[in-house]
Amino acid sequence: MSDVKIAPSILSADFANLQTEVRDVLDGGADLLHLDVMDGHFVPNITFGPPLVKSLRKATDAVLDCHLMISEPSKYVEDFAKAGADWISIHVEAPDDVAGALKTIRAAGAVPGIVLNPDTPVERAEPFLEDVGLVLVMSVFPGFGGQSFIPDVLDKVPALRAMGFRGEISIDGGIAEKTAPAAIEAGVTIMVAGTAVFGQEDRAAAIRALRTDAA
Ligand code: DX5
Ligand code: ZN
Repeated sequence: MSDVKIAPSILSADFANLQTEVRDVLDGGADLLHLDVMDGHFVPNITFGPPLVKSLRKATDAVLDCHLMISEPSKYVEDFAKAGADWISIHVEAPDDVAGALKTIRAAGAVPGIVLNPDTPVERAEPFLEDVGLVLVMSVFPGFGGQSFIPDVLDKVPALRAMGFRGEISIDGGIAEKTAPAAIEAGVTIMVAGTAVFGQEDRAAAIRALRTDAA
């Protein structure tokens, strides 16, 4: 059994019963909650914004890990921090002042993170590594849950360690019982999973299955 942390993505939860859904995965052994924020511009899908984070903040003490798939994170990071986000990650590909947005996140009392799309070279993260607590490695192209895992991105995990990064390394997209062992082997400390957790009836069993490091 690996001690990798499991971060269920609420994207695959039943939004009408979100409080029950979130309690179910946390009781089932989830370590934190992954919140996928999409603006219909940076990615071709729209999800939710700070009001939902604020409601969830009242419902749980769990770490709220906000993944912002939005074009202008600088404009909104403070709102997410005020709403109660613990971690706020922004894409290195966002056409924005990424370094400035990371500073704003830190100043607002949240932990900043950087996200790399599958086709973005790991070197693009290097200038920001001293300023972030988390690197989120995308193993699908962002926008939708339920896509297939892209194994090539796993090389980024040891590459980040070779650059001296000591923070959390999270992998996001297509994580399931079959793909999790390779991610654990590569050295990730957090695995995000939407379909593989919320899509299963028994969430505790689903979470346990992801932590099993045998293929
Ligand atoms: C994709 C999101 C992921 C996604 C993961 O844009 O960032 O967090 O919800 O979903 P699964 O685990 O279903 O691939
Ligand atoms: Zn995500």
